[in-house]
Amino acid sequence: MRRLRSSEPIRSLVRETRLDPAEFILPLFACPGEGIRREIGAMPGNFQLSVDEIVLECAEVRALGIGGVILFGLPESKDETASGAYADDGIVQRAIRAIRREVPGLLIVTDVCNCEYTSHGHCGKIVNGEVDNDQTLAWLAASAVSHARAGADIVAPSDMMDGRVAAIRRELDAHGFSRIPILSYAAKFASVFYGPFREAAESTPQFGDRRSYQMDPANAREALREVALDIEEGADMIMVKPALPYLDIVQRVRERFDLPVGAYNVSGEFAMVKAAARNGWIDEKRIVLEIITGIQRAGASIVLTYHAKDVARWLKAC
Ligand code: PBG
Repeated sequence: MRRLRSSEPIRSLVRETRLDPAEFILPLFACPGEGIRREIGAMPGNFQLSVDEIVLECAEVRALGIGGVILFGLPESKDETASGAYADDGIVQRAIRAIRREVPGLLIVTDVCNCEYTSHGHCGKIVNGEVDNDQTLAWLAASAVSHARAGADIVAPSDMMDGRVAAIRRELDAHGFSRIPILSYAAKFASVFYGPFREAAESTPQFGDRRSYQMDPANAREALREVALDIEEGADMIMVKPALPYLDIVQRVRERFDLPVGAYNVSGEFAMVKAAARNGWIDEKRIVLEIITGIQRAGASIVLTYHAKDVARWLKAC
């Protein structure tokens, strides 16, 4: 076997997985105000950005050849009905319009969920102390339509309600957005790895947790059922989240289904790498390249990652 490992040109010739920034999506957090660029504690190099700043960030993302951005929002105020999620002048809707205008050609994906917009931090409407599935679907569909109306290219529901893909598809079609694809967070696990994100998006549940809607980390077969249902409901692309502890799921989804597959290299995965690198315990560049390569080798072509800009720069340099 060592004959094909003897020099870089040979290794390069037989390499099975190659990284391309066009397959990365960078998550960004839009916040109210102007000139705001507030670094997120556990996510060095990532910021809550006001709309004017997010536009600057997006120009950089486009220049680096990164596939696109996925937008999350921090509304001015939160309420019981998540009204900021589907308001036409909501924070994400405003960010989309500004990016569309100032950075044409950049792919804009939106996260469709309610947890950043509810006063209680849950992903849906609370009825008798629980997240009500079917009443939440209307909010999700309305958010997706408002994102499409503002100019989003792709909507990505991350709430894990049952039937949301069908509800969103129906509503998008009814409003003349049949061309807008749905990237479904099909297998999303109730993970501790979302911790830093919840600080960034200010979306920690005020009571209980998300285990009645997000998946049990112990279940792989159930993930395949989730994916099959989302495809039946009309998902155009599917995602597994988090990435690293769930690469077996990524691989099984890739083998069983023929849609484009994405994986979300989430905030906690990012934070661990950053913390170790800052302590001088690991080589950040090499470890990040190995991580992204591993995610893609497992079968995810699309990778959502907070490392996107760094990786794009490193790939440019070599
Ligand atoms: C919204 C959402 C979350 C993430 C993406 N969309 C948080 C959650 O479900 O609590 C997590 C992303 C990350 O950790 O990087 N529901």
